[in-house]
Amino acid sequence: MSDRHILTAVAWPYANGPRHIGHVSGFGVPSDVFSRFQRMNGNRVLMVSGTDEHGTPITVAADAEGVTPRQIADRNNRIIVDDLQSLGLSYDLFTRTTTVNHAAVSQEIFLGLLKNGYVFPKTTLGAISPSTGRTLPDRYIEGTCPICGYDGARGDQCDNCGNQLDPTDLINPVSKINGETPKFVESEHYFLDLPAFTRALGDWLGTRKNWRSNVLNFSVNLLEDLKPRSYTRDIDWGVAVPLDGWRDRPDKRIYVWFDAVVGYLSASIEWARRSGDPEAWRQWWQSPDADAYYFMGKDNIVFHSEIWPAQLLGYNGEGDKGGTPGSYGRLNLPTEVVSSEFLTMEGRKFSSSRNVVIYVRDFLARYDADALRYFIAAAGPENQDTDFTWAEFVRRNNDELVAGWGNLVNRTVSMAAKNVGAIPTPGELTDADRALLASTSAAFGPIGDLLGRNRQKAAAGEAMRVVGEANKYLSDQAPWKLKEDPARRDTVLHTALQAISDCNALLTPFLPHSAQKVHELLGGEGVWSPAPQIVETTDLDDGSPYPIITGDYAGASATWGSRPLPSGSPLSAPTPIFKKLDDSVVEEELARLEEGSA
Ligand code: MF3
Ligand code: ZN
Repeated sequence: MSDRHILTAVAWPYANGPRHIGHVSGFGVPSDVFSRFQRMNGNRVLMVSGTDEHGTPITVAADAEGVTPRQIADRNNRIIVDDLQSLGLSYDLFTRTTTVNHAAVSQEIFLGLLKNGYVFPKTTLGAISPSTGRTLPDRYIEGTCPICGYDGARGDQCDNCGNQLDPTDLINPVSKINGETPKFVESEHYFLDLPAFTRALGDWLGTRKNWRSNVLNFSVNLLEDLKPRSYTRDIDWGVAVPLDGWRDRPDKRIYVWFDAVVGYLSASIEWARRSGDPEAWRQWWQSPDADAYYFMGKDNIVFHSEIWPAQLLGYNGEGDKGGTPGSYGRLNLPTEVVSSEFLTMEGRKFSSSRNVVIYVRDFLARYDADALRYFIAAAGPENQDTDFTWAEFVRRNNDELVAGWGNLVNRTVSMAAKNVGAIPTPGELTDADRALLASTSAAFGPIGDLLGRNRQKAAAGEAMRVVGEANKYLSDQAPWKLKEDPARRDTVLHTALQAISDCNALLTPFLPHSAQKVHELLGGEGVWSPAPQIVETTDLDDGSPYPIITGDYAGASATWGSRPLPSGSPLSAPTPIFKKLDDSVVEEELARLEEGSA
C-alpha cells in the first residue's frame, strides 16, 4: 500500500488568539503523526491547512480590542504559524483564508452549487436594533440555545453544544450591545439545499469503513432531519457573494464555515501553484484512488461529515437535482473524518477567557515539543474526553521518554562509543539476539496498521512496549559485564543498536525532533525527520504578503521498516535526548494555573 496520494486535511484554527494544547490535541498532533507515518510508508502526502480568519470569532475579538478584523487576523496568523511550526507539524502548506486565491475558490464552489440548483435565494428574518434601526450582525445577538439550553449561545453558533444556529433560532434573543430585544425584519440570503443531499450523503456514509463509531453514528444521525442552511450572513467581514448586486454590498458575506471548509481545496490549489505545477492538486482531489483524511476536534464534525460533503456533492452534480461538475471537474469526498474528543485541563474545560489554559507557546518555552506530542498521542483524547494533568505529563515524560526510551539510547550508544568508538561488528547471534531483532522488525506491521487507521494511542503503546523489550534485553545480556568477552559484548551492543534504530523509526511519527537526534547519534547523515519551515511569501494574486508553513519532506530518509545498521560507522558519546522534569514542576504549573484563573 505505498505510493498512494493521501490528502491530510487539517482543521483550520480560528485566528482569534494563540492556540492552546486542547486545540492542538484535536487537529494538530494526530494529523502530523498520520502524515509522517504515511510519508515514511512511501505515500504521497499533501497536508494542508491555514488560519480561519473570517466570521464572528474574528470580529468579536476585533470589537473587544477596538481594532479591525484584519489587524486581529494578521497578528494571530503569525502567532499560530509559530505555534504550529514549533510543534513540528509538517504542513505542505499552511496558509490563510484571507488570500485572493481562497476567495476565488470559495466563490467558484458557490457558483457551481448555484448553477446546479443547490443554492437558492430566500428572504428570511434578519435582526435590526429597534432603537437605531440598523442591522444587528449575528455576532451581536445572544440567547438561549434551542438545542441544549445553554444561555450564552450566539446568533451563529452555540459554543456549548457546537450546533450552528440562525439568530431566529435563539430563545429570548437579546442584543449584546444594549440588551434590547432585536426586531426581525426581512433580509435576503442564499441557502444550501441540504435536504437534496440526504440520499447521497446516506449512500456515501454507508460506504465508510473504519471510522470511529461515535463519529460515524453522529454523522448518520445528522441525516434524520436536514434543513436548508443559510450560505450567506449579515456580516461585513468575509468572502464576498459573487453575484451582481451582492458583490459590493458591505453587509452580506459568505458564512465563515462555508468558506473555511473550502480552504482544503483552495490551499491544495495554492500549494500546486506555488510548486510550479498548477494542476498538481488534481492528483489528490480527482484521482479515484486518492484518499482524503480530515482531522479535527469533535465540535467540527458536522461541517466535515455533512456540510462540506454536501458542498462537494452539489458542486459535482451528485445530489437529488443532478447537475454537472463545475469548472474544476468532479471533486473527491472525504475518505474519513477523523475526530478527537475533548481535552480538559486539570478537570476543567479549557477557557481562554477564564484563563483555564496553557498556550502552546508557553508550553514550548518550558518543555520540549516531543514531550507534548508524545503526551497527546499516547494519552490524549483520541476516543474519549481526557484530562490533561501536569502530574501525568511529568510522569509520562520521566518514566516513558527519559527512563524508557532515552535511557536505552543513552546507555547503549555511550557504551559502544566508549568501548568501540563505532557501531560494532556482530559475531554469531544467539537466540536472545535473534528474538529481539525479530520482535523489533516485526513491529512495523502491526504498528503501521494501527497508524494507518489512526489508532495512535495503541500504536504509541505498542512502540513503547518494544522499547521495553529492548531495555530488558540489555539488562539481561549486561554487556557491561562482558569485558572479558569483547566479541560477545560487541554482538550484544550491535543487536541493541539495531533494535534502537528500529525503535527510532517506529517512534519517528510521534517524536520527529528526537528521532532526528537519535538518527545522528547512530551515525546517520542528512535529514531523517524533516522540520517544517516558516517562509515569508507574497500573495499569488496581489493580496498582502503573509508567512506560510511549508517544507521539503520528500528528501527525508526515514522509511517505515528496519534498516540494517552499518558496522564500523563512527559513534561519539551521546548527549541526553530528553530532559527529566523535577516533580516540583507539577506544583509550579498548578500554581500558575490558579494564579491565572483566580
Ligand atoms: N476554525 C474552526 C475551529 O477552530 C475550524 C474550521 S475547520 C474548517 O473550530 F473546516 F473550516 F477548515
Ligand atoms: Zn447548544
